[in-house]
Amino acid sequence: MKPNILSDKEIQQLRAETKGTAHRIHFNNAGASLPPDVVVQTVIDYLTEEATYGGYETEAKYHKQLENVYTLIARLINADVDEIAIVENASTAWHIAFNGIDFKKGDVIITSEMEYVTNLLGFLNAQKTHGVEFKVIPNDEHGNFSLSALEEAITPQTKLIAVTEIASTTGGMIPIIEIGKIARKHNILYLVDACQSAGHVPIDVKQIGCDMLSVTGRKYLRAPRGTGFLYVRKEILNRIKPLYLDNHATNWVSQDDYELRNDARRFELYEKNRALILGLGKAIEYALNIGVDRIWDRIKYLSALMRSQLAGIEGVIVHDFGDLQCGIVTFSVAGLDSREVKIKLAENNINVSLGKAVSTLVFMEKNHLESVVRASVHYYNTEEEIQSLCNSLEAIIRSVIAKAV
Ligand SMILES: Cc1ncc(COP(=O)(O)O)c(C=O)c1O
Repeated sequence: MKPNILSDKEIQQLRAETKGTAHRIHFNNAGASLPPDVVVQTVIDYLTEEATYGGYETEAKYHKQLENVYTLIARLINADVDEIAIVENASTAWHIAFNGIDFKKGDVIITSEMEYVTNLLGFLNAQKTHGVEFKVIPNDEHGNFSLSALEEAITPQTKLIAVTEIASTTGGMIPIIEIGKIARKHNILYLVDACQSAGHVPIDVKQIGCDMLSVTGRKYLRAPRGTGFLYVRKEILNRIKPLYLDNHATNWVSQDDYELRNDARRFELYEKNRALILGLGKAIEYALNIGVDRIWDRIKYLSALMRSQLAGIEGVIVHDFGDLQCGIVTFSVAGLDSREVKIKLAENNINVSLGKAVSTLVFMEKNHLESVVRASVHYYNTEEEIQSLCNSLEAIIRSVIAKAV
């Protein structure tokens, strides 16, 4: 029996509202999802108005709608509107938060083995420039994050816990709510990379207890590329130093001094792509209308189905482990380079991506994985598409065997 998830009729409707689903089987949602048509149209219409009436004039006309995007983001993650900054991508959001922290020599950062490469680079850079140390908590033998190892690693020098809930190249997940409880108990700053999580799993920053959270638009949120946002908890706003300032980030400027604005928009600059921001808002509204809980249920159902079908194919090795698993399914095919598998599937009209070791370096090296095939499902994918992926893989394996004999 299927769990109580989106009905077939709803799925057909949602697919009808996404032109891209008619042309290809898209299992690269962890790269970028197919946006709903209404998101694309919102961006095109806004750009057309800008070109016709002028950029500033169009901005004034759409002031309310642009403001509403902050409200929609706040609703999506259960934050307050003044805790949101809109930026271009998750890396920008993460680096604004991380590099705004007043690190001193000897401070310690704790992370997990699933951390994303951008963030690892941030730690390495802080190590070089500030003499900060970072400790990686390895997953336990079952592939689960070890909360007891985290507790043991904390010392008075621990300045920050920074984790990625859903890594780029594995289906496992990090228990960010339980980690948040530990961070709160010890009063340690807590930064969550929710780049792959937004629009995929429900996010409630109050429940997570995080201080900062970074998100991109183009992945599971189905927003246009070049969109993202940062959440900064009000209570720590003044502990994060803005990296750059303009007249939008400040409330008041004189020749001798300035005052920062008193919300998270102090981390933004004035100039932005407003068409894309409206597209981001439309994508969030679309996800909220479906219900992120229902999206998550459907993704769990489809990804479990995909994993079990793949595991049944001789020559296919599924690499996801751990008790918590998401819509990212990773595997390899015996005797075939993952890049080749991706190319062959593309010839069959199926988009998957290559999960490279560098993206989740600690995890991948520990598990001796140079690369994996990443097939990431979204709610608009179907059982038939999963079957087509498996049929194509079987045919690819058969042809490799035929060539070998
Ligand atoms: C887990 C994770 N964090 C951060 C990023 C960076 O996101 P962006 O490319 O939007 O900066 C990615 C991108 O793939 C990611 O998978």
